[in-house]
Formats: sequence, C-alpha cells, structure tokens
Amino acid sequence: SRLIALVPAAGSGSRIGTAVPKQYLPLAGRPLLAHTLAALLVHPAIDAVAVVISPEDEWFDSYEWPQELAVLRCGGASRAESVANGLVQLALDDDDWVLVHDAARVGISQAALTRLIATLASDPVGGLLALPVPDTVKRGDSENRVADTLPRADLWLAQTPQMFRAGLLKQALAAAPLAEITDEASAIERLGFSPRLVEGEAGNFKVTYPQDLTLAEALLSARAG
Ligand code: C5P
Repeated sequence: SRLIALVPAAGSGSRIGTAVPKQYLPLAGRPLLAHTLAALLVHPAIDAVAVVISPEDEWFDSYEWPQELAVLRCGGASRAESVANGLVQLALDDDDWVLVHDAARVGISQAALTRLIATLASDPVGGLLALPVPDTVKRGDSENRVADTLPRADLWLAQTPQMFRAGLLKQALAAAPLAEITDEASAIERLGFSPRLVEGEAGNFKVTYPQDLTLAEALLSARAG
C-alpha cells in the first residue's frame, strides 16, 4: 500500500486577521504553505503529496510549486469537507494510508513524521500526533466561571498529521457532520474506533495568530542554521 500526504489549505484564515489567507503569508521569503509541503515532499516514506485549495483561490498560481505536487482545486466549506473532497479526487486503494496535515503546521519535523509513520505501520486503526497538555484545563460556564477542572493526565492536544487507511477515512467522513468535526480522528471515533495517540512536539503548533509567525520563523531558521 502507498502513503499519500493530503494537505487541506482551503481555509480563509480569519483568526489571523490578514487579507491574505494564512497559508500564503510570507515566512522566511516563501509562503507558509511552501514550508509545510517541503517537509512532506522530502520525507522518504511518503510516496506522494497532494494539496487541496479553494476553487476560488486567487493566490496559489502566483507562486512556483514543486512539479511533483498534486494540486486539487476542490476545497469545501469546512476543513473536513476539503479533506473529503480531496480524497474523492485521489484514486486511492482502500488500504493506502492517508496522512492529513494542516497547511498551517509549518514546524512539523522529519523525526515526528517518522515516529508517527513507524508507530502506525501495523496499527489496525491509525492515529495522530498529539501533545500531552502542559497546562491545567478548566471548563468554563456561560458567565466565565469555572465549572470544572479536567484531570490533566488524560488530556492531549490533537495535532496533525493524522494518519488513517483511505477506505476507513472516506467511510468516516461520509458519515460525519463535516461542518462540526475539526479533525479526522473525531470522524473515525464516531465509527467506534480508537485512534492511537503518538507523541507530537511543541514545534508542530498551528500558526493561528499573528505572533505565531514570528515564532515559526525563529523555529525554521534555528533548524536551517
Ligand atoms: O482554520 P484552521 O486553522 O482550523 O484550519 C486548519 C486547516 O484546514 C488549514 O490548513 C486550513 O487551510 C484548512 N481548511 C480547509 N478548508 C476549509 C477550512 C480550513 O482546507 N474550508
């Protein structure tokens, strides 16, 4: 079976507050998305890399992209819909692995990719990179009063890549409310499966707010140096 990386990059990036969607924000002289794709394209265990962009995307074609990149112009209204649409476009066997990775997680390291892929190689379900929660987590009520403190030892922050067999992932997304789910694993969970948590890393954070760009730039230049 093959291992295909699929990068949903059809978001508008509304929380970052710029006119340019965040996947095209400049980072060390290249759009953010280029760094993310480069990390996947260079990994020896990944057979192909595909990116899902919005059909209305006005930025993508103004940059140069690697020849081997598959470009799918079928982004949807939600992240999950973009992934589901992308899976339809790719001619995958049910037992091919799909590794879904956020465009906005530029800091993904080769070591973390290898750890995920190696850990899941013979897993019956698949799984995701995730980080043990470093902070104490409170649930708040409608008046911003603490309703509850959650036991931190059990809590993980879901990152990407999330890696599942193409057949199972397609089935899960077909059954899930795409506007509600925020990652692939939750669609798989709805079918009654338990995805495996593989330890991620802090550097694999999602660029969400403007100050994240400064942090991402520092991380990439430290690695290049
Ligand atoms: O908005 P958020 O940071 O959660 O988006 C996560 C990823 O999903 C980003 O890479 C974004 O481009 C992508 N996305 C998408 N289609 C959408 C919304 C988000 O591909 N409709």
